Amino acid sequence: MQLRPPADQDIVVFGASGDLAGRKLLPALYNLCAEDLLPGQGDIVGTAPSTWNDDDFRTHAHDSIAQFSRTGLDDQVWQRFAARLRFVALRQDGGLADLRAALKREQRLVYLAVPSSAFIPLVQQIGQSDLAEGTSLIIEKPFGHDLESAHQLNTALHQVLPEERIFRIDHYLGKETVQNLLVFRFGNAIFERVWNRDCVERVEISVAESLGVDGRGRFYEETGALRDIVQNHLFQVLSVVGMEAPVCFEAEALRNEKVKLLRAVQPVHPHDVIRGQYTGGAVEDEQVPAYRDEPGVARDSTTETFAALRLHIDTWRWSGVPFLLRTGKRLRRRDTRIVVAFRDVPLHFFEGLAVDGLESNRLVVRIQPDEGIALTFLAKQPGPEIRTQTVRMDFSYGSSFKTSPPEAYERLLHDALVGDHTLFIREDEVERGWEIIQPVLAEPPPVQPYAAGSWGPDQADALAAPSHWHSLDDEA
Ligand code: BG6
Repeated sequence: MQLRPPADQDIVVFGASGDLAGRKLLPALYNLCAEDLLPGQGDIVGTAPSTWNDDDFRTHAHDSIAQFSRTGLDDQVWQRFAARLRFVALRQDGGLADLRAALKREQRLVYLAVPSSAFIPLVQQIGQSDLAEGTSLIIEKPFGHDLESAHQLNTALHQVLPEERIFRIDHYLGKETVQNLLVFRFGNAIFERVWNRDCVERVEISVAESLGVDGRGRFYEETGALRDIVQNHLFQVLSVVGMEAPVCFEAEALRNEKVKLLRAVQPVHPHDVIRGQYTGGAVEDEQVPAYRDEPGVARDSTTETFAALRLHIDTWRWSGVPFLLRTGKRLRRRDTRIVVAFRDVPLHFFEGLAVDGLESNRLVVRIQPDEGIALTFLAKQPGPEIRTQTVRMDFSYGSSFKTSPPEAYERLLHDALVGDHTLFIREDEVERGWEIIQPVLAEPPPVQPYAAGSWGPDQADALAAPSHWHSLDDEA
């Protein structure tokens, strides 16, 4: 599908001086400009409680793009981009009259790149300042911190804007590899035949990070891995892996199927959850402090930096197949992958003849890094005797397409500009995500310590019993 330039509109970024704007949004908008995918006419208006003027904002944008843009910074593109940049300081009383006066076009896309406590007051200001008409809104996670607060946020949003002009962003859906899962599942007949309880023994989804809380200790203390990654990124990937084929490839059809899948996921029992917290250790040869020694973190904190859970999906396709999810900070390496482990053969003719132990077939989707997909199977080693070895058929983005996938935010910003909701989260999806983890939030199991640089607490192994998690050290 050829991407088209969006209709004329302004783009407003609340939180324009913040981390998200600098690292992701401004570089993504710049790259859309480079590809002629910004609106033909329209300003990019930054706003923040700051004394900046247009030139200060341009300098900030210039430096952020030079540092974080995946394509670097080209002077000609920069000149075109800089000509669109404007800055409006947020008034102390929070009113948006100055912003209203600065906007030249009837349509605008507003991005709330601000702490979640500011979502509701800002949305109410948009309503009171006569800005609701013509506004579409992108809102960042976290969408609430539990079911009740998510519901309150949704109610506040709907008092000002209809659902079709609200874009709840989960950048995992903007990742090429996650979108490719849809093509892989629904564009290839052979996998559909085996994608069910008859052939699949279990599914694992892991989001491992080597990063720690990265200066966000205070934010993370109130969030933890369950809210930061499980309720959103992991559940989004889970819904794409588990959903039925939509009736057509359009936003509502796809989102209906994702919600249907989440509705069938049983609220998780605290027995099926392991929470962990990292102690000091070495990650990628660098000595790092314990979570409790990070700035902004309580010395006796019980916030989880690791979570593993076993989920059950009550559908005809998946009944009885465990879905194992895990995520953690300060793990050995950055590695996000999905492992679909297929059922074993009924009889083991080759027992004792394997050079590397017999493993049932498995499909590994490498979301990041080294994006690709591999299928493992058993082969006969060359030679007079029968010796078996596990081998892989491997597809790698780098070698097949000779390119690295574009940034998720570029795709998602463009989709919101053209009004395409396919990769955004609907109100009922968010609330169902909270319903699923609500029992653990209400009764969290104790946190288990794990050394930074390990793969998390050993207690997580019990969730996979009688089987075992595939080691993230294995070649995927
Ligand atoms: C964010 C979380 O949503 O996702 C961060 O708040 C996390 O804690 C990040 O590090 C991971 O994103 P990615 O794209 O690097 O996997």
